[in-house]
Order: sequence, then structure tokens, then C-alpha cells
Amino acid sequence: MKDRIARILEEGIEEFAAASDRKTLDAVRAKYLGQKGFVKDVLSSIGSVPPAERKEIGRLANELRAKLEAAFEKQKKALASAPGTGTVFDPTEPPAGGEIRELGRTHPLSAVVSDLLRIFSCLGFEAVDGPEVEDERHNFDDLNIPKDHPARDSWDSFYLGRNMLLRSQTSTVQIRVMEDLARMPPLRVVAPGRVYRPDKIDATHASTFHQIEGLWVDRDVSMADLKGVIAAFCRELFGPSVRTRFRPSFFPFTEPSAEADASCPRCSGRRGLACSLCKGAGWIEVGGCGMVNPKVFEAVCGERLRRGETLPPGGMPPFHPERVTGFAFGFGIERLCMIRFGIDDIRLFLENDLRFLRQF
Ligand code: PHE
Repeated sequence: MKDRIARILEEGIEEFAAASDRKTLDAVRAKYLGQKGFVKDVLSSIGSVPPAERKEIGRLANELRAKLEAAFEKQKKALASAPGTGTVFDPTEPPAGGEIRELGRTHPLSAVVSDLLRIFSCLGFEAVDGPEVEDERHNFDDLNIPKDHPARDSWDSFYLGRNMLLRSQTSTVQIRVMEDLARMPPLRVVAPGRVYRPDKIDATHASTFHQIEGLWVDRDVSMADLKGVIAAFCRELFGPSVRTRFRPSFFPFTEPSAEADASCPRCSGRRGLACSLCKGAGWIEVGGCGMVNPKVFEAVCGERLRRGETLPPGGMPPFHPERVTGFAFGFGIERLCMIRFGIDDIRLFLENDLRFLRQF
């Protein structure tokens, strides 16, 4: 009996391994493991084995069945992964080796950017892009920040040799869009992207962060339009009961300029000092904004002429400050992201710590 079991095992393993397609494999399985198969036969003859050997034979028979089943499974897998065998690819089957790759997920900043683009596209804004390596003209001069003007200090960024630097604000894209001869007013664009500043790093300041710039140029665009767009945007982002307010501010490229605040989306000012977001102020700063300074339009008109813009005799350039007005705004994306997800330190965005990123 022992010999018989050993022979069945040996031949069975060989036959399973030799089965070159699914049909043969199933036939081999029926021959060994089926209702009328060898294993069944061995098991049912255990009763006629002398009682002294029964235990041992029983053990061998069970082992035989287990080994043949394993041989079957192994060959089944081998056939399934072999190309051209006509077997169906099963994407849900765990990979060989058992290692399962982790799925990627959306970075919290990307999630906020897609929200912003969705909201602004509903308001009629087209998404545009600009370079992170800029020249001084786009980063400063044409934005009405002349050389030696003290306003340059807060934006004097990372220089890459003479005249080139990492942009300190997305406002550069205002110039890039308007000086493009392929574009004419009316213009409604938003430009999300990365900016660089020599700021002292703390929980709310980083040397690298993201902004979204907005620009609307048309005949008779007013400060009321600006306020309307920012109010609509804040309601959409933070919830319908959020209010907005403007505080007077200064930016060289807008006149007048303002800081836009939203009423605290967490407590609306009701929780006072206990609110971790507004710290009792009742308002949170969303970003800077204002009416495009005529000096910016003048710089754009000059550049368009240099690029060969032709005007009808006596015609006014399309971006002439007597012809168009506009507004612009710039919001910090990390800030909006921190408000939305309750993140309390901007440095977390730069550390690539998986324990942080896995929470989103
Ligand atoms: N560029 C300004 C900043 O970096 C924000 C801003 C954009 C202000 C557009 C007014 C208009 O702070």
C-alpha cells in the first residue's frame, strides 16, 4: 500500500507538471483527485489495511491528497500567467509573491487646486500657466515695481544669475497673458502655480508655496465686480453663509488695493479666542487684490508695440488704460488648503512625510 501511494504521488506530480493546457490539467485532476480518482480509491481502501498500519497509511493518504492538490494549483497558476494560453487575465488576483502595491492618492494641494479651477471656471475664468523661472521685467518692472523701489524688498527672490530669478508671485502671469499678441480683451484668466520667496520660515511662511492669480480685463470692469467675484468664490469654497470684506492695502500693480477677508468658516466669529482658526478675529485673510494699475496696462501696451502690434491709424492699443479696466487677485493656495483640512503648519507641505500625506 505504501508503495502504491508513493507511485501515485510520483506519477501524479509529473502528470500535473506536464499538463500544457487547462483541458489536460482538468483531466489529470479528475484522474487523481476526482470522484473516481486514485486518491479516493486509496482513501476507501484504508478500511482493509491491517489495524496496526492504518494510522500511518491514513496519514500518507492525506499527505498524498494535499501534495497533488498543491501540484494542481501550481500548474493552474503557471498556465494562467503564461502568455497565449487563452486563459482570462484576472486583475483581481493577488500578485505572485503576495506584494500588493499601495494605491496613490490626490495630494491635498492638488485637491484644492482642482476645486479652485472648478469654481473659477464656473465664473468664466480660463486656466493658464506661466514659467517659474522669470526675468526681472515680468517679476518686477512691468508690475510697476521699479529698480530700487522699496516694494522690491519683500519680493526680492532667488536669483539665477543676472536678471533671472525664481518668480516671487504669480502676478507675472498677468503680464505674460496681456503681452501675448494672440490675446485681446476681454480677458478672464486664473493662473495657479508655485512661487518662491526669501521669507523667514515659520508655521505660516515658507520659501516655496503656491498661489492662484486671477485677472479680468474688459471695458468698465469695476471694484464691485471684483468684490462680487471674490464673494461668490468664498461662498463656493467655504459655504453659503460666509461673508467677505475688503481692507485697504498696497500693491504696486493694483490701485486701489485691498486685502480680502472671509468671515471665519469655522466659527463666524462666535467662538472668540477659543477658535483655533481665526483666533478671535472672526475673519481670515484670503489674499490680496485690487484694480489693475494703469501703469501695468501702459507697460503691456509698450511691450505689444515692441512685438510688432499694428494699430489702425489713430487707433488706441487694445490694453490702453483709457480703453479697458481690470481687476486682479492673488490667493495663497497652502493657506486655503490649511483652512479646509485644519492643517496648522505650512512646513508639512514641504517635508514629504508619508504619515502626513496618508491622512488625505
Ligand atoms: N501678488 C500679490 C502677492 O504676492 C497678491 C496680489 C495679486 C495682489 C494680484 C493684488 C493683485 O502678495
